Amino acid sequence: NWKMSKFIDQEITRIRKLVGDKGQVIGAVSGGVDSTVAARLMKEAIGDRFHAVLVDQGVMRLNEAKQVKETLGEHLGINLTVVDASERFLAGLKDVVDPEKKRKFIGNTFIDVFEEEALKIEKAAENTPTAGKVEWFLQGTLYPDVIESISFKGPSSTIKTHHNVGGLPARMMNGQGLKLIEPLRELFKDEVRALGRELGINEELVMRHPFPGPGIAIRILGDVTPERVEIARKADYIFISMIKEAGIYNNISQAYAALDTNRAIGVMGDKRQEGYIIILRAVVTTDFMTAEAYKFDMDLLMAISRRIVNEVDGVSCVTYNTTSKPPATIEMQ
Ligand code: XMP
Repeated sequence: NWKMSKFIDQEITRIRKLVGDKGQVIGAVSGGVDSTVAARLMKEAIGDRFHAVLVDQGVMRLNEAKQVKETLGEHLGINLTVVDASERFLAGLKDVVDPEKKRKFIGNTFIDVFEEEALKIEKAAENTPTAGKVEWFLQGTLYPDVIESISFKGPSSTIKTHHNVGGLPARMMNGQGLKLIEPLRELFKDEVRALGRELGINEELVMRHPFPGPGIAIRILGDVTPERVEIARKADYIFISMIKEAGIYNNISQAYAALDTNRAIGVMGDKRQEGYIIILRAVVTTDFMTAEAYKFDMDLLMAISRRIVNEVDGVSCVTYNTTSKPPATIEMQ
């Protein structure tokens, strides 16, 4: 792809100029396509002076931290630190029900963890030829993220605080602010995917559905407890696996299983049994600003429900969310 290889050359030159010869650059990675592509580009530009940090906030998908470690660290050769902060996050999320409070708590705790990591990275580089401060922070922000956060954050109304746009680095390093590098800021998702292919990232990762920074915490309506995280995670895993097996993963833009606050009455044998309610969501969209529910084959949807109820302890009911965006949003919180 001629356009993308030209973009890569230009960005590498721009990044090298921007960050100079000394000092370290850090960046948050999540295992998603945007942060992986951004990280891969930094690696091309400045090698091991770029340090990717994956913060496991305890609300990632099933087995995700391990998978990211393998892909970024082992296959792509990116300098990667995985910070298991799951206990810290889950302890703080205890009893937080309000969606905005969940987002803010997770965003702020991310900052704390990154600051701690940035200091460690500075220290570790002290006696190397490129010793120097962490002055730059890499983000895989895309053009639609920029647009949505501008149009969403009118003077008086914020629909959602997307913690990965704007606020995070500005408040890092004791308010001194890290300077932002956002190499994907002018690209759309399909362009980032093309760029990923050009950079040798495998097709499965390139086509991955987006996953929000606050993770499963905003897909669990109400209380986020370790037990409820486990239920949402297992249901999500079954849902996504069955979508992949049916060969329709790439026809869906984003899919996940959410957990409702309420419970539903079911029957087990001849006994009444109260159980959790799983809400499946799958949408089709090009820009993530508007979206429609995916039109499932009903037999497949029923097979998915059956497996979730049978295999995830405590679930007695599965529903499918058919709402478009607008008026709904893609994440339910
Ligand atoms: P909504 O729910 O606003 O989602 O229709 C649009 C897209 O943005 C993702 N999203 C987030 N991504 N941090 C993120 O990194 C967030 O706080 C966040 N909230 C929503 C969502 O998954 C969808 O792709």
